[in-house]
Amino acid sequence: MKKRILKDIEVSEVGMGCMAFSHGYGRIPSEEYSIEAIQNAYHHGCTFFDTAEVYSPNLSGIGHNEKIVGKALKDVRKDIVLATKLFIDRSEISREGSVYHAIKRHLTDSMRRLQTDYIDLYYLHRTSGGVSVEEVAEAMGRLIDEGIIQGWGLSQVDVDLIDRAQKVTPLSAIQNIYSMVERDVEKAVIPYCLKNNIGVVPFSPIASGLLSGKITTKTEFERNDDVRNWVPQLSKRNIEGNQPIIDLLQEYAQMKNATSAQISLAWMLKKYPNVLPIPVSKNKERIIENLDASEVELTQEEFEALDKALNQLKVYGHRGFTR
Ligand SMILES: NC(=O)c1ccc[n+]([C@@H]2O[C@H](COP(=O)([O-])OP(=O)(O)OC[C@H]3O[C@@H](n4cnc5c(N)ncnc54)[C@H](OP(=O)(O)O)[C@@H]3O)[C@@H](O)[C@H]2O)c1
Repeated sequence: MKKRILKDIEVSEVGMGCMAFSHGYGRIPSEEYSIEAIQNAYHHGCTFFDTAEVYSPNLSGIGHNEKIVGKALKDVRKDIVLATKLFIDRSEISREGSVYHAIKRHLTDSMRRLQTDYIDLYYLHRTSGGVSVEEVAEAMGRLIDEGIIQGWGLSQVDVDLIDRAQKVTPLSAIQNIYSMVERDVEKAVIPYCLKNNIGVVPFSPIASGLLSGKITTKTEFERNDDVRNWVPQLSKRNIEGNQPIIDLLQEYAQMKNATSAQISLAWMLKKYPNVLPIPVSKNKERIIENLDASEVELTQEEFEALDKALNQLKVYGHRGFTR
C-alpha cells in the first residue's frame, strides 16, 4: 500500500476504522473474526488503526473495541500507528485534580486495554464536555513531552477551535466527517490543515455505505445498534435523490476496473495530500477492498472530470453529525 506522512509519522494512506467490531452497524462479529480481520488488514499493508474508548455495543460500556484492537495488534505494536479517542467532562476535573490528570486517567485505561505503553494519536472525541480546548491542548502538550502520546487531535471541529488548540499545542490530525456527499471541510478545515501540516482523517468516508452503491431504497438496516436507521442521508427519499452520484461512481468504477467504494476513496486521496480516510467494515473482504483503493490511481484528467461532474450534482441529506 502507498504511504502518506501524518505530521511526521509514515502511515498507510488508507487506514482502518475498527468501530464496527463493537458498535454502529448492527450485530457485531465474533471476537475471533474481528481479530483476524484486523490482522489481515495489517498483513495487507495497513499500518493506521482507529478506535475509541466509547466503542462498545450500544455505546453502553467502555473499551470493548480497544480490547479487540489491542489483542489483534499487540505483537506488531511498534510497526503500526494507533489512534484512540477520549471524552472528558468538567465534573471529572475536581475528582482527578486537573485536566491533565483527568486525561491521563483515560489514557492509562485505554493503554491498558490496548496492551501498549504509548498512543501515537490521541484525539479529543468531542469538545462538548465543558472543558476548554486550550486546557485540553495544554494537557496533551504535557503528555507529548512525557512521550506517552506521540501526537494529538480533535474530532468534528471547525477552524476556530482548531486554531485555538493549535496555538497551545500543535495538532497532528483532525478527524472530521468527509466524503463525496459531505464536503464542508473542503471550505476551511482542509485548507487550514494543509497550511499548518495537520493531517485530515475523514470518518464516514463511504457515507456509511451509501457511496458503495450497495445500499438501495429496499435495504433494511438492522434493528439493534445500527446508526444507519437514523442517518438522514439513508432515508429512502435521500437515497433516491443521491442516485446520480451513485451512478457517476459506478461509471468510474467500470472504467477503472474498481469498485464504487474504491473510487470514492481514490477521489479524496487524489484531491488532498494530507487526507487519510479510515473506512470501516465488518467484512474481511470489504476491508481489503477498501485498503486497495490505495492502488486505484485516477489520472489528473480523470480526477478533474470526476470532481467537475460531482460539483454539478445536488447532494440530498447529510450524515446527521454536528459538533
Ligand atoms: N470521530 C468520530 O466522531 C467518528 C464518528 C463515526 C465514525 N468514526 C470512525 O470512522 C470510521 C468509519 O466511519 P463510518 O463507520 O461512519 O462509515 P463508513 O466507513 O463511511 O461506512 C461504513 C459502512 O459502509 C459499509 N461498507 C464499508 N466498505 C464497504 C464496501 N467496500 N462495500 C460496501 N459497503 C461497505 C459497511 O458495511 P459492512 O460492514 O457490511 O461492510 C458499513 O455499514 C469508524 O470505524 C470510526 O473509527 C469516527
